[in-house]
Amino acid sequence: MKDIYILAIETSCDETSMAIVKNGRDVDSLTILTQMDTHANFGGVVPEIASRMHTENITMVLEETLRKSHVTMDDISAIAVTYAPGLLGSLLVGVECAKVLAYVYNKPLIKVNHTLGHIYANNIENDIVYPSLALIVSGGHTDLVILKNSSEIEVLGSTIDDAIGEVYDKVARVLNMPYPGGPNIEKKALLGKPSYEMPIPMNDNSYNFSYSGLKSYIINLVHNEKQRNHEIKINDLACSFQESAVNELCRKVELALKNTHIKNMILAGGVSANKYLRTKINQVCNKYHVNFHVPNILYCTDNAAMIGAAAYPLYKANLFADYSLNAQSNETIKKYLENN
Ligand code: KG4
Ligand code: ZN
Repeated sequence: MKDIYILAIETSCDETSMAIVKNGRDVDSLTILTQMDTHANFGGVVPEIASRMHTENITMVLEETLRKSHVTMDDISAIAVTYAPGLLGSLLVGVECAKVLAYVYNKPLIKVNHTLGHIYANNIENDIVYPSLALIVSGGHTDLVILKNSSEIEVLGSTIDDAIGEVYDKVARVLNMPYPGGPNIEKKALLGKPSYEMPIPMNDNSYNFSYSGLKSYIINLVHNEKQRNHEIKINDLACSFQESAVNELCRKVELALKNTHIKNMILAGGVSANKYLRTKINQVCNKYHVNFHVPNILYCTDNAAMIGAAAYPLYKANLFADYSLNAQSNETIKKYLENN
């Protein structure tokens, strides 16, 4: 059978990334150009700067991806692109680039939802087993879904306010740690004790999440302690926050595993790079004799290889986009499933 090579483009936030993925599983070539250092000067991603930098860098990223690849544009079967959700200006750069490549090289165009991409990062160098429970945790998303089969996904719950990664970043910022905050909080938490009492994020039995209360609680606590000239034990506060935030994820995952009897669990999204979270979810899975899988750390944070992996089943199903494809900043996984 002929190998299918998909050229994938990801520009939804502050990484300009392209990949060539063989048969949805093998990464032939991957380039990730991060703008992290630039945005760190502002304490977070500045959308206008992000889209300008994507525009400046995308040609270079394409050249580099093709240079490292074993194939040429002639061998590419389709062009895939993240069209939603994300920063509108950033998404547009990727979408327009994909359309131009599809037109010039006469290749089919595939639109990929970014959250679906994170899920399919689990298919790289591995196979998602169905049914699986999937927890997607990133800067923009906190979703708990059931992957029923390769074409059917049921959303159990999502955040009703902030995404967990966003809260990691905000807490880091109030503690004067550089952007992105997640990895920095993780490092500090390793050195601390959970000595600060934290509110329980969402004390209910739904599969939804809420993190804005925990975020506001910590921001207020830091401001109050500063006003009183009290010392803030940064390592302990990072540790207490992380424990509370991750406990809540574990509680909902446990509830879902108990209720659904699903025997496979996967993690996805930037926050799934967090070792404490990986360990804690693994412990829940062990308790219920559930197989646990998480992508290689390289494929947890934003990258185009996961977009190539997610595009493969769409290619197989002949689900192609036309040139009217536009970027959509707000399309959640739930909306995507309703519309496609
Ligand atoms: O998936 P991603 O690269 O972009 C989005 O789709 O949002 O996720 C980025 C998020 C950021 O909030 C970042 O702080 C968080 O993932 N993150 C982490 C870790 N590495 C990245 N959070 C906690 N621990 C980490 N090790
Ligand atoms: Zn992402």
